Amino acid sequence: MTTRSQAQPARSARDQFDRQAPHYDEQWNAWNRESLDWMLSAAKPVSSDIALDVATGAGFTALAFAPVVRKVIAIDVSDGMLAQARRRAGELRIGNAEFRIAPAENMPFDDSGFDIALCRVAAHHFVDVEAFAREVARVLRPGGRLLIADTTVPDDSPEAADWQNAVEIARDPSHVRNYSPSRWRDLLTSAGLLVDEVTSSGGGITIPLTDWMVKAGCTAAQADDVRARFAAAPDSARAVFDIRRDDSGETIFSWRRVLVAARRPA
Ligand SMILES: C[S@@+](CC[C@H](N)C(=O)[O-])C[C@H]1O[C@@H](n2cnc3c(N)ncnc32)[C@H](O)[C@@H]1O
Repeated sequence: MTTRSQAQPARSARDQFDRQAPHYDEQWNAWNRESLDWMLSAAKPVSSDIALDVATGAGFTALAFAPVVRKVIAIDVSDGMLAQARRRAGELRIGNAEFRIAPAENMPFDDSGFDIALCRVAAHHFVDVEAFAREVARVLRPGGRLLIADTTVPDDSPEAADWQNAVEIARDPSHVRNYSPSRWRDLLTSAGLLVDEVTSSGGGITIPLTDWMVKAGCTAAQADDVRARFAAAPDSARAVFDIRRDDSGETIFSWRRVLVAARRPA
């Protein structure tokens, strides 16, 4: 199975998220509140910590950590998303969060400057996820913690995994790949990090197909393609992602999540 971790997506994340930024609202964030709560508790932040939020989007994770650490520096490749994040920081009167344009794969920071690194619901967009892991290992101080939350695919069903990644790309051409739990363990270990926890579970949130496509700004042709892929989903994918119809006939499903805690050796 190819990982596409170094392949170019059909549309860059920057283009995709500049398009999405105006619609990127609290409702989307509510889907992901659980992973944010897990990160806040697993990171064990203290008031002297400097945190890095990689691919911050509209800044939900950075702004949740800002009140409990000394400073948060957040990066993203999309100016549109960074503008949303800065606006939210202003509304919340948060002054210790800094938002900068930079890629996850090549961070403009000195070695060992961060106590905590965070990356929520974004790594599946990275063109080179191994480079992201190496950069995190470089910019974390010895003993510094990394927390990742993302959508994931199962280790034991390559058919369902490939179907899910293909449907994601059809819906959002900036999607690169969702990684399985064991792939996360391997790639972080290869980057020199110690992996403390990798847990995967059902997303717990039922996603209506139409709404999911609207959120990504799908064209009519993309929506037709995505609907056809759901209609032809293999049994393995139907089981893993709980694909079914609700009472109104709408297709609904549930993606899986992975939570990863790792640290740079002390
Ligand atoms: C779903 S949003 C992130 C959500 C955010 N982390 C949160 O917790 O709410 C995904 C973000 O990843 C960013 N992104 C994609 N590829 C990137 C890369 N290689 N480097 C930095 N940011 C990237 C996109 O611009 C987008 O803002």
